[in-house]
Amino acid sequence: MKLLVTGGAGFIGSNFVHHMIKFHPEDTVVNYDLLTYAGNLENLKDIEDHPNYYFVRGNICNRELVEYVVDRYAIDTIVNFAAESHVDRSITEPDIFVKSNVLGTQTLLDVAKGKHINKYLQISTDEVYGSLGPDGYFTETTPLAPNSPYSASKASADLIVRAYYETFGMNVNITRCSNNYGPYHFPEKLIPLVVTNALEGKELPVYGDGKNIRDWLYVEDHCAAIDLVLHKGKPGEVYNVGGHNEKRNIDIVELIVDTLGKSRDLIKHVSDRLGHDRRYAIDPTKIETELEWKPQYNFDSGIKETIQWYLDHEEWWRKIKSGEYMDYYRKQYGAK
Ligand code: NAD
Ligand code: DAU
Repeated sequence: MKLLVTGGAGFIGSNFVHHMIKFHPEDTVVNYDLLTYAGNLENLKDIEDHPNYYFVRGNICNRELVEYVVDRYAIDTIVNFAAESHVDRSITEPDIFVKSNVLGTQTLLDVAKGKHINKYLQISTDEVYGSLGPDGYFTETTPLAPNSPYSASKASADLIVRAYYETFGMNVNITRCSNNYGPYHFPEKLIPLVVTNALEGKELPVYGDGKNIRDWLYVEDHCAAIDLVLHKGKPGEVYNVGGHNEKRNIDIVELIVDTLGKSRDLIKHVSDRLGHDRRYAIDPTKIETELEWKPQYNFDSGIKETIQWYLDHEEWWRKIKSGEYMDYYRKQYGAK
């Protein structure tokens, strides 16, 4: 394959580039990324000299550049990770979410159509389904009911992907995964924020009562699922990805604090996120039965490995937690 991986300098994208170089070293991987605040080439330092890996800095909304890159590298497959990904930022700055996530996706699809790309894979999210009560799971047929500007932009993108399948017969897939955790996770998100704040002796902000539930999956398990969908996904199909690992936020925060041997006094309940979804939980039956995907990591060891990764990569996260990040942090948490 000659793959265009958009957003490959972010959290999941960079893990996916590593995954592809490791398991499919004969494939060409072109990482196309705008390097927004969330994109970081440090995530790819160890593979930057690999003969089949290339990096191009660019916006997925820039049609001419995307077309040029597709021709230049004879791309036959596109995997779109590129997006504004943080729910809290979508509440204060929704415009960029519509531009990058909706218009960017439509631009990529249009280039893919014009260039006769073999497969287009959209990396979507369980958040497009909205929020669950205490029972039940999201399946691929659960109606879309996004609640945040972020999830609304991702749901809009999914509908455009669907339209290109129905209208033009393009070979597309959509994956909808639950919350990922693991190495290179940007420290605005709950797990890396709490790990790094705890290491710095800072307060650990828990929104509302802390009883919201997320369904956590180790990022490499997500990458393996994407790899399978790329190779075996049936045209036009959506695949939910999740490992039946529901946790309350407060339990995750306490686990991290205890693992690091810090005081639970650092935990601070703060104002709730606007429109905060209560519970996400994925039913992964379809990908398990049709594509024989199974998660390989369990949460207890995965979270310990992840905490250790942050302990071992202090330079990585300390560099991020300065400048623009601190401006964002002060605005978001009113902290010094
Ligand atoms: P991230 O914020 O860490 O990375 C996003 C990457 O996209 C960055 O490298 C950024 O520079 C790049 N980017 C943003 N806008 C761009 C644009 N206009 N053009 C080119 N590049 C651009 O995000 P992530 O957590 O790695 O998520 C990746 C994808 O997976 C997103 O589409 C997200 O919706 C989806 N997803 C994330 C999770 C999760 O738990 N993090 C779960 C399910 C799905
Ligand atoms: O479900 C998949 C989604 O998971 C992805 O589509 C998103 O891109 C990704 O960011 C993630 O969204 P969440 O909003 O679930 O992740 P976040 O880490 O921001 O928050 C996880 C939970 O923790 C959520 O209930 C809000 C809460 N939270 C978050 C932060 C940043 C806190 O209590 N305090 C915080 O400071």
